Amino acid sequence: MNDYRRMIDRLARSNHAIALTGAGISVESGIPDFRSLGGLWSRYHPIEYGHIDSFRSNPAKVWKMLLEMDALLSRADPNPAHFALAKLEALGIIRAVITQNVDSLHQRAGSKRVIEFHGHNRSLRCESCNLRYPREKISLSVTPPACRCGGPLRPEIVFFGEQIPTIAFTEAMSAADSCDFLMVIGTSAAVAPASQIPLVAKNRGAFVLEINPTPSELRKEMVDFRIAQSAGTALPEIVTLIGVNNYE
Ligand code: APR
Repeated sequence: MNDYRRMIDRLARSNHAIALTGAGISVESGIPDFRSLGGLWSRYHPIEYGHIDSFRSNPAKVWKMLLEMDALLSRADPNPAHFALAKLEALGIIRAVITQNVDSLHQRAGSKRVIEFHGHNRSLRCESCNLRYPREKISLSVTPPACRCGGPLRPEIVFFGEQIPTIAFTEAMSAADSCDFLMVIGTSAAVAPASQIPLVAKNRGAFVLEINPTPSELRKEMVDFRIAQSAGTALPEIVTLIGVNNYE
C-alpha cells in the first residue's frame, strides 16, 4: 500500500474526521482567495480595508472593498470540492467543516454541520444598534447602506480586530480537540486563531492532511500528508476512492 492509499485508509477508518477550509476551496467557484496574486488583499490593504477600526472611522471607504466581495459571492456556486466534502459527511466520514469562508457554499453543497469561524454574508448588521437585515432586503446601490437608526450596516463577517463569534470558536476548538483526522484545505494558515486549529488537532494526536497547490504557513512537521493539487481535483478523487473501497 503506498502512502496515499494509507492516508485514504486512515481517513476511512477514522472516528471523528473534520475539515478546516479557507478561501482556496472557493477559488474554483470563481472567488479569488485573499493572499494570492490578484486576491483582495493584493489590491486592498488588509488593515486599511479589513480592520474594524477602519470600518468605524470610514465605512464608505471599506464598503468599496465589501461591494467587490459581495458581487463575487453573489455570483458563485459550489464547486466539486464543496460537493465532495458534503458527500464525505453524508457517508459518515466527515463530522464537521470549520470554514473561514463567508460564502455559504458548503451549506449550498449540502454540508449540514458547518462552523462559520469568520461569520457569513447572509445578513447585514447595524454597527450602531446591532439590528440585523437579511442581505437580500438591502440595496447596495448607495454605500454604506444605512440602518433605520441611521447607523452604517456591515456584513455579519469578522473583521480584523474583532472576536471570533463565541459559539463558533467553542465548537471549532472542541471539534479540533476531539478529532482523529483533520483535512486542512485551501488556507494559507496565516491568520490566528484559525491557524491554531491544526495545532490543537495535532496535539491530540490527529492525522493532518493538507490539500493546497502551494505550501501554506503550516509547519512541515504538522502535516502528515500533503496533496499539492487544487481542492476541486483532490477531494472528488478521495470520495471516489472511499466509495470504491466501500468503507462503512
Ligand atoms: N484549492 C486548494 N487551495 C487553493 C486553491 C485551490 N483551488 N487555490 C488557492 N489555494 C490556496 C492558496 O495556495 C492559499 O494557501 O488557498 C490558500 C488561500 O489563502 P488565503 O488567501 O490566505 O485565504 P485564507 O487562508 O482563507 O485566509 C484566512 O484571512 O483575510 C482573512 O478573514 C479572511 O478568512 C480569511 C482569512
